[in-house]
Amino acid sequence: MDWEEAGRPNKAMWLLAESKPVRRVRKAIGRVLGVDPFTGDTRFYQFAHGRHRATRIQLVNHMIAVNSYSRYLEIGVRSSEAMLEEIHCKNRLGVDPDPNASADVCKTSDEFFLSNNQQFDIVFIDGNHTGDQVRRDIENSLGCLAPGGVIMLHDMNPPTRFHARGSYKVDGKYPAWNGTSWKGYAWARANRPDLTMYVVDTDWGVGLIHPGRQETIDLHEPTYSDLSKNRGKLLNIISVGDFLNKYSNPFRFDHD
Ligand SMILES: C[S@@+](CC[C@H](N)C(=O)[O-])C[C@H]1O[C@@H](n2cnc3c(N)ncnc32)[C@H](O)[C@@H]1O
Repeated sequence: MDWEEAGRPNKAMWLLAESKPVRRVRKAIGRVLGVDPFTGDTRFYQFAHGRHRATRIQLVNHMIAVNSYSRYLEIGVRSSEAMLEEIHCKNRLGVDPDPNASADVCKTSDEFFLSNNQQFDIVFIDGNHTGDQVRRDIENSLGCLAPGGVIMLHDMNPPTRFHARGSYKVDGKYPAWNGTSWKGYAWARANRPDLTMYVVDTDWGVGLIHPGRQETIDLHEPTYSDLSKNRGKLLNIISVGDFLNKYSNPFRFDHD
């Protein structure tokens, strides 16, 4: 049962947790302790391209630097200043159906993949935040991934039922939201033994997927309760330090 189906329990508490003053306090705690209770590890690390605070952007830039990737695709851009322009890659392509977004291609990801014949070294999935769409984005991205390429995804680790609610808007406002994107990732954890998959514990959970191998989990029609009971195994969560240990050498093309 997700947040909406559960009758929106404790709505006032969740709204308070995402109010501006509480967010500020949370961030301050995060800066002191190095871990934001909601978003994960925010500490500085030595990445391949320099020393930075851990974020989705620095994880992507690290993979690009280590593997000399030159073709980056971002699904879901909104404002290119927030991420796309921060990506250190020779060729960057952003896709977003919103005409007000600063994307290169004004299409949904499904429409884009239908007519796409380019290959990409790295695809960042951050478009429509529903499980079914993220599942399709994963499958379509695998179809155009160059040998040695990776898929990365945002919002894979919603910290509460509130953050994993079905729709962004609550009472006319837009408090922090991860949606049900994690369910698309969970589908691949259950059905694709030919992939290697992790969620890095930073920036609301940054997913990483590439051809490889994994022991699949036994999970069909996952609910938020499944996630909260079995978060570590379901998502295969790793720390930023583990990510740097695993991914600091260029991939071999067979992804062993
Ligand atoms: C969370 S924002 C992206 C943020 C950006 N990647 C960043 O990190 O700053 C999500 C974007 O996905 C777009 N979007 C929604 N449905 C989409 C779809 N089917 N295909 C591609 N993008 C979609 C929305 O218009 C919105 O601009």
